[in-house]
Amino acid sequence: MCGIVGYIGKQQAYPIIIKGLHRLEYRGYDSAGVALLNGHLNIYKKKGKVSELEHFIAQKDNTGSVGIGHTRWATHGEPNDVNAHPHASYNQKIALIHNGIIENYAAIKTELLKKGYQFQSETDTEVLVHFIEEIRQNEQCSLEKALRLALTKIVGAYAIIVISEEEPRQLLAARKGSPLVIGIGTEAGEYFIASDATPIIEHTKNVVYLNDNEIAILGESGLHIKNLQNVETTPYIQTLDMALESIEKGGYDYFMLKEIYEQPNSIADAMRGRLIAKDNYVRLGGIHHYLPHLTNAKRIVIVACGTSWHAGLVAEYLIEELARIPVEVEYASEFRYRNPIIEKGDVVIAISQSGETADTLAAIELAKSRGAIIYGICNVVGSSIARATDEGAYIHAGPEIGVASTKAFTAQVTVLTMLALMLAQHRQTLTKEQFSFLLHELENIPQKVNKSLRLNDSVLEIAKIFKDARNFLYLGRGYNFPVALEGALKLKEISYIHAEGYPAAEMKHGPIALIDEEMPVVVIATRDSSYDKIISNIKEVKARRGKVIAVVTEGDVLIPEMVDYVIEIPQTHEALIPLLAVVPLQLLAYHVAILRGCDVDQPRNLAKSVTVE
Ligand code: F6R
Repeated sequence: MCGIVGYIGKQQAYPIIIKGLHRLEYRGYDSAGVALLNGHLNIYKKKGKVSELEHFIAQKDNTGSVGIGHTRWATHGEPNDVNAHPHASYNQKIALIHNGIIENYAAIKTELLKKGYQFQSETDTEVLVHFIEEIRQNEQCSLEKALRLALTKIVGAYAIIVISEEEPRQLLAARKGSPLVIGIGTEAGEYFIASDATPIIEHTKNVVYLNDNEIAILGESGLHIKNLQNVETTPYIQTLDMALESIEKGGYDYFMLKEIYEQPNSIADAMRGRLIAKDNYVRLGGIHHYLPHLTNAKRIVIVACGTSWHAGLVAEYLIEELARIPVEVEYASEFRYRNPIIEKGDVVIAISQSGETADTLAAIELAKSRGAIIYGICNVVGSSIARATDEGAYIHAGPEIGVASTKAFTAQVTVLTMLALMLAQHRQTLTKEQFSFLLHELENIPQKVNKSLRLNDSVLEIAKIFKDARNFLYLGRGYNFPVALEGALKLKEISYIHAEGYPAAEMKHGPIALIDEEMPVVVIATRDSSYDKIISNIKEVKARRGKVIAVVTEGDVLIPEMVDYVIEIPQTHEALIPLLAVVPLQLLAYHVAILRGCDVDQPRNLAKSVTVE
């Protein structure tokens, strides 16, 4: 969590830093702060969003060509001005920003307290900055050496950037478990550094991804990367494949809405070059060396969190039905702590949009340590999870900035569908006709998503009716059960209305007690193998006067007769319905949240990538 950004060069740092913080705000928005070097350190911090910091700094000295900035998602200490980063050493010589958690901060703090250090904040980060300064004083050494020595004693995860008044022409950065990207400017000695590439893209396309346990020294003497043993390595410079427009709102009021509308393209991008239906061709290039492993797997374990976990559930239905391989879907946070049975050669698939989710990363490390082969399904290129896996496939959804995941879900499901089809082809578990039909249907999904997006106005009308509801129930069966979970998650996270997703048939084992005339029940009731069964579930809700909003297949005449509101989506193969059915549910959550005055791109208490456990 938290976004960090830094600049060193000849330009004024502040405008670059503040714009970078706006771009990183999706990572956390409890407080923000900057430190600027111009002969001396100026540090400004403010509770709230980056715009509040900007307002606060407007009349202050914001000059300097070296600077760092931070936008916070609080872990240690409540969101307030004091706990905001940057944190400074007691003598105000060093300023530091941090994304991650220092796990052994309490022990270090105790030692520092004994030596007379005083702490302003409740953060683990302040402990680190005092610790570095303490080492620097004791050893009478450079900031670089003090940082290196400090990091050898630190337990936990961090991406940090440090600047010092006494060594003003350099910026030091280090990472372990939290991402950092360095942009190489056009002028000698000019560098940008950030938690992800979005603050960098408009300045340079040449970047270096810092690895775990590396320290970067940036400044007049160039870019140097060293490990914690002080051994220098040659930076590997890559070219960013990201367009500036992809990280701007492009005329939409919110990133979330833009990303919902991008889905016909992002799904097509996920399939580009990988699926040609007329040639019966489906192939994920990134899954190559270990393909025989996957094809012959006795079982597959999927690990993920949140929306990515819902995509994993869809994959369970797909892979089991189409390729006949048993699949288990695990919350990464549970898997990592429960001593799971994973043996050498087992196959684990990790799904993550950001590629930085701490629990998913830890689940991967655990499975790896037991000899499993790990596949990654990620969006962010070069992310920690993408790099920690043996093989994998990117979903190519483009940057997802709205905190609620939308286009990443559909792109994940698209890639997982291709994976299931690829496995089915190798294992010969489908007839040629079934296989070919599914490929053609999948190829046509982007057009059908486009059609689903035309439902926007009618979904808005339904949102107006239910915007003040206190609870929602979402029901689905089979492939539509994960869609029900995802619809409920979207609504609760951005509108703060309590919502539950349930397998429709499970309703009678408990949740049916909640149903009365006040309860909106969204039922995904498309024409599929559970059609007759879901009709019975709808009747059960109606018998208790629940208000039913049904997502049906276009042309359905039966269900509209028995429900209160109908949303019609195009016809497709049952296995592909999640890609269409989720779209009106994303729109419903969006409109309800907007009508309730919520900030859908930055919902309270949330952040886009959860890099803490
Ligand atoms: C919900 C949402 C989260 C993420 C979850 C995993 O809209 O965005 O539930 O899906 O935090 O994140 P990734 O996919 O980045 O691992």
